[in-house]
Amino acid sequence: MTFLRLTDLPLAGKRVFIRADLNVPQDAAGNITEDTRIRASLPGIQHALMAGAAVMVTSHLGRPTEGKLESADSLAPIAERLAQLLGRPVPLVRNWADGGFQVKPGEVVMLENCRVNKGEKKDDEALARKMAALCDVYVNDAFGTAHRAEATTHAMAKFAPVACAGPLMAAEIEALTRALEKPARPLIAIVGGAKVSTKLTILAALARKVDHLIVGGGIANTFILAGGGAIGKSLAEPELTGEAKKIMEIIREKGGEVPLPTDVVCAKELSAQARAVTKPAKDVGADELILDIGPETSRTLAGLLEHAGTIVWNGPLGVFEFEQFAQGTRAIARAVAGSKAFSIAGGGETVAAINQFGIAGEIGYISTAGGAFLEFLEGKKLPAIEILEQRAAAQ
Ligand code: 3PG
Ligand code: MG
Repeated sequence: MTFLRLTDLPLAGKRVFIRADLNVPQDAAGNITEDTRIRASLPGIQHALMAGAAVMVTSHLGRPTEGKLESADSLAPIAERLAQLLGRPVPLVRNWADGGFQVKPGEVVMLENCRVNKGEKKDDEALARKMAALCDVYVNDAFGTAHRAEATTHAMAKFAPVACAGPLMAAEIEALTRALEKPARPLIAIVGGAKVSTKLTILAALARKVDHLIVGGGIANTFILAGGGAIGKSLAEPELTGEAKKIMEIIREKGGEVPLPTDVVCAKELSAQARAVTKPAKDVGADELILDIGPETSRTLAGLLEHAGTIVWNGPLGVFEFEQFAQGTRAIARAVAGSKAFSIAGGGETVAAINQFGIAGEIGYISTAGGAFLEFLEGKKLPAIEILEQRAAAQ
């Protein structure tokens, strides 16, 4: 993939517009509960500032109604956190699409939630042209939003004098490409989470690429059903067992495995107080829920991961938020961390698990993206990346 990079461009005195993904989780009072995306956006902003650019940063936050800035959608807390991290003021500018605000070389402003601008979601050309006129260099550093064709992620890149990728965008693309294009083998994917339906296309795409596929969470339950096993009253999608069978066949025909749990951790209900019982997978009762993999399964999976060349991980193996159902996800996290494989992990829950188990330093690359990470793994062209490539090719 070829695109211009911010770090290769002359920036002194230039007006640099950075589209970042600062869409971070907040609590009910608006406090930031997790600021990885803000921290990950610092290198691009700092680089532009050090190079003497006049820097504008924007992002979406949540899914506001266009044309209406509610206080819950404001980037104010994000600007404040960014100011702390940069150690310099970051004024917040509202109603900015038509310009009329000042930013000097060596200074940075934050432009209020770009999804409040009318036309943003629809990738509107008129809005994009106005925004492009605000800058000399347009930078997309928002890999987390690269799967959206919106005015600040896509159309704007067509009209800005120069359009390039920021360092986070470049690093994400490089890490994912390394994991998928010429992976050291065996390539093992771990796909967990609640539903097969939300990850069916990714499972099907991965089935063709990977040597082994580890399924977890509610997804595993549908695979257990497909394999003829019992799951009691666990979350599953029986209508998708046919798809699950196809995925298992594709991998087995290549000599790979889709290991299903041999033991599981069950409870009668899903709650913080629920009493956990470990048992062979074949003994799951009609009134039980499978909420984690058992220790024997964890050991089997860890053994498989030990010999991996590349590991791609999205989604937990159990309900790791509750300690009595965290053992499986913890064991797999440790196995990924301990493996010599190049490992890459992405998605909000996966990153939360990695942080909870304190193994972030031992993962090859942790993506800041959720949906974009999955679509990239599926092999889809992400619109925000494609437009940067087209601009570079047209030079
Ligand atoms: C995300 O959190 O996945 C990205 O910021 C994209 O947000 P969206 O799903 O609202 O487009
Ligand atoms: Mg989201």
